[in-house]
Amino acid sequence: MDDVDTITTSFLTQIAEAGDTAALEDLRVAALGRKGAVTGLMKTLGQAAPEDRKALGQRFNQAKDKVALALDSRRTELDQSEMLARLGGETIDVTLPARPRPDGRIHPVSQVVEEITAIFADMGFAVAEGPDIEDDFHNFTALNIPPEHPARQMHDTFYLDQEANDEKLVMRTHTSPVQIRHMQSNEPPHRIIAPGRTYRSDSDQTHTPMFHQIEGLAIDRDIHMGHLKGCLVDFARTIFGIEDLPFRFRPSHFPFTEPSAEMDIGCSRVNGELRIGGGDDWLEILGCGMVHPKVLKHAGVDPDVWQGFAFGLGIDRIAMLKYGIADLRSFFDGDVRWLRHYGFDPLDIPTLAAGLAR
Ligand code: PHE
Repeated sequence: MDDVDTITTSFLTQIAEAGDTAALEDLRVAALGRKGAVTGLMKTLGQAAPEDRKALGQRFNQAKDKVALALDSRRTELDQSEMLARLGGETIDVTLPARPRPDGRIHPVSQVVEEITAIFADMGFAVAEGPDIEDDFHNFTALNIPPEHPARQMHDTFYLDQEANDEKLVMRTHTSPVQIRHMQSNEPPHRIIAPGRTYRSDSDQTHTPMFHQIEGLAIDRDIHMGHLKGCLVDFARTIFGIEDLPFRFRPSHFPFTEPSAEMDIGCSRVNGELRIGGGDDWLEILGCGMVHPKVLKHAGVDPDVWQGFAFGLGIDRIAMLKYGIADLRSFFDGDVRWLRHYGFDPLDIPTLAAGLAR
């Protein structure tokens, strides 16, 4: 055995015995690196007799290829077993019970908004939105509530210090300004609902300074009170899930509708507990009416061609009634224990796409 065979055999043995990829890398450097032993053989070629160089060169190259091949295949083996070892250590026991995670809850107000939206979406109403901070025109004047009108006092309005375009700014006292904004920027026919926050300076067990309403607006060439009634009766029976829910429409007054009505649903009070459905008592749930011609005009709609109805209902009230929550203020305390109790599973809320089962 000469040098070439000794060096080659020694490396092949060490490579076969290398225990990990780091040791293997050390061997590669020792053999084929710039100062490695096999590389060193090549450097001796210069001193060999010229007639021996070709044969010697071939042997060196074969030695180099053998070592390189051995390095490669050992690396593949080591990579494999290192990966298997890692996978072995990382085994997941899929039979373990899941760790409890704090899951979020849907607030009853959001839940009821979803439910109401789904019901009206089924009837072809789209959702519209408007700003919480309104100007005097959209919140009052366009809705046929001129300055000095007593309805402005009734609304206990929050006024802002700022003005915009010479208009007083207010926290909107109802969602009705969304009717105006929608009619101003869209062509009739209209069929929208507008859920959102509303504000009045008021606070007791059934009033909070911020509360929620849903506005409804349906404008077309021939929409009449019959449509209003059908829509709202359908809505009330669906939201409370009572097929024969008694109802009545009482004449009322709103400056922006003519005629105007309030809708009551049948209820009973047993030992102070309110029950929706049959009984001898009535509970007001919403205001409604045929949109006043002046309102249509203010919003740029020709009242000689278009007509329809509008309604507004308090979302929080519906949530209290439907889910038996006694104090409105608890809705807005932000107590997570309360939310855990009264909130809803996020995976259970009705989706618009699914529509409603009937
Ligand atoms: N905006 C009225 C309110 O806040 C409700 C309403 C809306 C009545 C639309 C009639 C038509 O009380």
